[in-house]
Amino acid sequence: MNIFEQFVIPPSSHTLPLMDIFLILSLLLFLPFIGMLIGGTTMSMILSGISGNTGDDNYNRFSRDILNKLSVNKNVGLGLGLIPAFSITFVYAQYLYQAPAIAISIMFIGCVIYIFAFLLTYRFHRTFETGLILDSYKLYIEPGKNLPADVIEYKKKNAAITKQSGRLGLFLLYVASFLFVGGASIATNPMRWAEVTNVIVLLIEFEVWINYLYFLSFSAAITCSAILFFFFKWQGGIKDMTIDYKMLVLKVAGFTGFFSVVLLLFFVFIKFLITTEMALSTSVFVYTTLAMISILIVCSLLYAVLKNHEVRFASAIFFFMILIFLFTSLKDQALLGNALSDHLAPIIAEQDKLIESKTQPIAQDESAIDGSQIYQTKCSACHKGDVKLVGPPYMETIPKYNGDIKKLAGFIYNPVKVNPEYPAMPSQGLSVAESEAVAKYLMDTYGGGAGGEEKESDKQGTDNKEPESK
Ligand code: HEC
Repeated sequence: MNIFEQFVIPPSSHTLPLMDIFLILSLLLFLPFIGMLIGGTTMSMILSGISGNTGDDNYNRFSRDILNKLSVNKNVGLGLGLIPAFSITFVYAQYLYQAPAIAISIMFIGCVIYIFAFLLTYRFHRTFETGLILDSYKLYIEPGKNLPADVIEYKKKNAAITKQSGRLGLFLLYVASFLFVGGASIATNPMRWAEVTNVIVLLIEFEVWINYLYFLSFSAAITCSAILFFFFKWQGGIKDMTIDYKMLVLKVAGFTGFFSVVLLLFFVFIKFLITTEMALSTSVFVYTTLAMISILIVCSLLYAVLKNHEVRFASAIFFFMILIFLFTSLKDQALLGNALSDHLAPIIAEQDKLIESKTQPIAQDESAIDGSQIYQTKCSACHKGDVKLVGPPYMETIPKYNGDIKKLAGFIYNPVKVNPEYPAMPSQGLSVAESEAVAKYLMDTYGGGAGGEEKESDKQGTDNKEPESK
């Protein structure tokens, strides 16, 4: 069921704290990045659609500026998006070691779809920029003349690719995020593990939708606060904004931001309400409260932006948005730990025991020493059960010890001269435990008991048969 089991090292109390840190770091990179990618691309496509319908060039500029300001280059995208996505999946796989849940496989499928979604959105961004450059050609030709035919042709093709890759890329971003968020929410709730056995069931899970809508409102909120910050504050903001354009940006980003932050508050609250009792703890409660307070602050700051067209607060909004994100991530982390503690406790205990036993010196573990193997390698050159080799046959010597393993082991550990017919036996350099193991083996094999009885019953067998055959 779980394809990752082979790659996963079962968690122990030594590795778990590391995993927690790893998870938080990956989340801190991944969520804002993917949120802005989804939010920015969506807004930019909607705005360019509006500009196409209304012919209002401000919308077109807004659409272009969002892509310029919020997108990062492909390599950074890989580092902030794909690598953390896979790391998060692997940490979850560790947490869910041996759990009967397909959550991890679903998250992994999400990661793979992210790859295609990233490639397509980058293609969209690139062809979009090419389109803008082609547009600017108009400025360089004499009025009244048209662009050369091949440029027009290329422009058409480019526009088609932009539209296509933008739509498909965005669609895949939404699908991948649904699977990723859905898988993670199933992973966090052990009570649903038995029920969610395929991707279809995911679609009708209440909690999955709550988490997904929460994620989408977070994406919209962080995108809008980033727009305000990067358009108006960061490095002085965009310089040549007309009043109309500035108003448009404030209106769109302010309103969408306000609306999505209210939704965010709603979903954080719902998420808290549906948290299972098992997963609740003081830290979950504290982080939720802190997140909600920060959300309320962002709400009121955004309201000021909308009402007074005030850009003063743009940095504060962005800062509190990051805080919201930090608190909710810490809360989710605490939640995950609490929810999975029952599942993880026995695995960790077992793993710790294993690690402990591995670090103990081997000689102390008596049962692990194989007496017959020592016999094969160290004794069989000079001894056999019933044949006289360099040393006497065991059939003759072992019964002398009358089952006294300690005494026999004593001789093997430190041989003394016994029988004048033989040379002295050289010491074999065994440890006490090894001598005991091989003594036990010899006693079991030749120590009178079973061996002797067998012989006797054999004789009886033949004795009994003879009269019958006569
Ligand atoms: C180099 C040859 C050699 C090897 C290897 C050797 N032995 Fe011996 N062993 C002897 C000889 C020779 C004697 C007879 C010593 C005597 O009677 O003084 C003997 C005697 C014995 C006896 C009989 C002691 C008695 O009380 O009569 C036992 C039991 C025995 N060996 C066990 C072992 C075991 C177990 C090993 C392997 C760990 C082993 N030997 C390896 C040569 C060897």
